[in-house]
Amino acid sequence: MRTIDWVDGVVEIIDQTALPDVTRVLRLSTVEELVAAVRRLAVRGAPAIGVAGAFGVALAARQFAGDPDALAAAVDLVRTARPTAVNLARCVDRAAARLPEGSDAVLAEALRIRDEEVDSADRMGRLGADVVTSLCGERPRLLTHCNTGALATVTGGTALAVAFELHRRGVLAGMIASETRPLLQGARLTAWELDRAGIPYRVAVDGAGPFLMARGEVDAVILGADRICANGDVVNKVGTYAHALGARAAGIPFLVVAPESTVDLDTPSGDAVEIEDRGPAEVVSFHGVASVPAGADAVNPAFDVTPHSLVTAIVTDRRVIRLDKGETMGSYRSA
Ligand code: MRU
Repeated sequence: MRTIDWVDGVVEIIDQTALPDVTRVLRLSTVEELVAAVRRLAVRGAPAIGVAGAFGVALAARQFAGDPDALAAAVDLVRTARPTAVNLARCVDRAAARLPEGSDAVLAEALRIRDEEVDSADRMGRLGADVVTSLCGERPRLLTHCNTGALATVTGGTALAVAFELHRRGVLAGMIASETRPLLQGARLTAWELDRAGIPYRVAVDGAGPFLMARGEVDAVILGADRICANGDVVNKVGTYAHALGARAAGIPFLVVAPESTVDLDTPSGDAVEIEDRGPAEVVSFHGVASVPAGADAVNPAFDVTPHSLVTAIVTDRRVIRLDKGETMGSYRSA
């Protein structure tokens, strides 16, 4: 099934907080339910929260028909549910632009956004697989971080779509999924997806990545993005930067795969991006058991910025930008 969809007037999502133990579907029928689901990462990943945002506007248009102030407040609530991935604000704006035409027009736009994400996952998979093969040859061993699979999109994925495509072509040697503390998107979600796809994989703690690269066990790092800035800086799940440094030190390609809907030419560089701070609670315990001395504080940026100088190539659904060869993000502007 799809990670997120519009079914019989409500938004259906797979509850990613319950995976890998339980596959549970949630039906979200109000803006408040949808915003809570986005905030607690029941639905997550840049393309998926973009689609959630568009569906949120469709819910708002029905819930607050005839009350323009409440409708505007609801749209703003959805738009700001999480600050870092550009997909959320962008998709909310696209859907909200149809509000003057009525709720059916808003829903039609949201469904179009959903369909575009499905198509772009397909294209990224094929384009990215060609890039990996040209850079690494056959039988590459890839390391990925966080979750960029079907669960982060509607179906298919971004960086993980590339792994699925390489596996379909019969050329992927295997994957390392870094666990992605504190919420374990790599260990819980990427491993679950790789397992279901029959792809050989191992999970590694976040800190192991650069050492595994140095030891020659990884041919390329491939991961996604929440926002790609005009200068090519990549904002992605915290830990990405360390993997980029490791890849540079080991002399292996560092590849970023994301749809054009994640490219933000209005943001000049990573410095200008608001990095979501999720507060200490997620860091100071593990599976509900305290893992620090009582009273210890913690810092919990959900994302980091990888400077464009560390990125080999960015693969979108439309093009490959070889930053290592001096290519730039250019002027291609998504809808
Ligand atoms: O906090 P999350 O789980 O929403 O973070 C997701 C990521 O950082 C992904 O790597 C990114 O959105 C790319 S998803 C295709």
